[in-house]
Amino acid sequence: MYTAAIVGAGFIAAKRHLPAWFRLRRDVRIAAVCDLDRARAEAMSRDFGVPTAYADVRRMLAAERPDFVDVCTPPSSHAAIAAAALKADAHVLIEKPLAMKVEECARIIEAERASEGRVTVAHTELFHQSVIEARKRIERGDIGDFTGMRIFYSTPVTLMTADSGHFANRLPGGAIGETAPHAIYLAAAFIGPIRDVWVRGRKLLPQYPWSPFEDYRLELIGDRAACSVVLTYTSKHSAFLLELWGVEGVIKIDMQSKILVNYNRVNQSPWGIGFSAAGEAAQIASGAFSNGFSYLTGRFRNIHDRLIGDFFKRTVNGLSPSVTTEDGLETVRVMNVVNEQLQSSRELPPLASGKPLDS
Ligand SMILES: NC(=O)c1ccc[n+]([C@@H]2O[C@H](COP(=O)([O-])OP(=O)(O)OC[C@H]3O[C@@H](n4cnc5c(N)ncnc54)[C@H](O)[C@@H]3O)[C@@H](O)[C@H]2O)c1
Repeated sequence: MYTAAIVGAGFIAAKRHLPAWFRLRRDVRIAAVCDLDRARAEAMSRDFGVPTAYADVRRMLAAERPDFVDVCTPPSSHAAIAAAALKADAHVLIEKPLAMKVEECARIIEAERASEGRVTVAHTELFHQSVIEARKRIERGDIGDFTGMRIFYSTPVTLMTADSGHFANRLPGGAIGETAPHAIYLAAAFIGPIRDVWVRGRKLLPQYPWSPFEDYRLELIGDRAACSVVLTYTSKHSAFLLELWGVEGVIKIDMQSKILVNYNRVNQSPWGIGFSAAGEAAQIASGAFSNGFSYLTGRFRNIHDRLIGDFFKRTVNGLSPSVTTEDGLETVRVMNVVNEQLQSSRELPPLASGKPLDS
């Protein structure tokens, strides 16, 4: 029997990581939960039936010697916790982003080299069934030569922006630091290594003075193609949509409903448009039905279930991680440029006359 310890008893640990670890209970025992906030660690250990709670990572590592350490704390703490866990030769799973700065990633990479343990970075959306399918279809040439992509990401305002205490509001560029890592590693999986970045943020909600921006436009230029990303934190609604296009077709993915649609509209007559719209509706209906069926029959696995299952299997079989520290570093490198640009960007000064140019 292997043992695992969870560090960080917050949102993602409770909602996704612990339930995913419990799916592996035949092979892995969750030995401890650790959180700087002892009351939180104790509450989580009570709620999930985990035997021990700690407030100090080093004490937890020394006492429990876990085979796996799962880091679910805010990104500024990842490097120190990962380095300590690697020093204890544990295999480490680290929530995205790997760290805040390139130098912190280097510290983790160095600790990994000196350790028996291996690190996997939780680039969870790469484990999304529709993303895996889209990558296969593009590789197979189903949409012809791949030429570009777009991501629309709406995080409900109540989740982070309205909460003055949420760590995302203290990240260098604001909430983008919490969500954009997903967009960056997803984009890189399709457009290749990112060579150029352009970003702008707008402050739209003055009632949340602690949030620097609530609307971001991000352009990522990769070796193979480019990706435009809209990240908004202004709505009550959540959305996460991906569009990937090639010379012969378009793939649209609703990341939340997990429905992938092939969009084909070469014929622009009313009939052509009608058939294409009906075809999309049919794909959405059949996708919703088959996802509903797998959910109801208990066969559904969310991205964290898949990630943690993959992390466990690969590490015990001595295989290299699906998402390496180098992959994590790449996302952090791009995020660092995003943050620098956001800090230096300025809106255009108003026109001297105060009138639009063409009036
Ligand atoms: N993959 C995803 O879809 C996804 C979604 C949400 C969050 N995340 C990531 O998960 C991580 C945690 O996010 P969250 O929303 O759960 O945060 P959270 O604020 O809800 O929880 C973090 C917990 O870590 C604890 N903590 C902070 N520093 C610590 C330290 N040094 N040692 C021990 N405990 C410490 C805090 O007290 C808190 O209880 C972040 O890296 C975030 O980006 C990933």
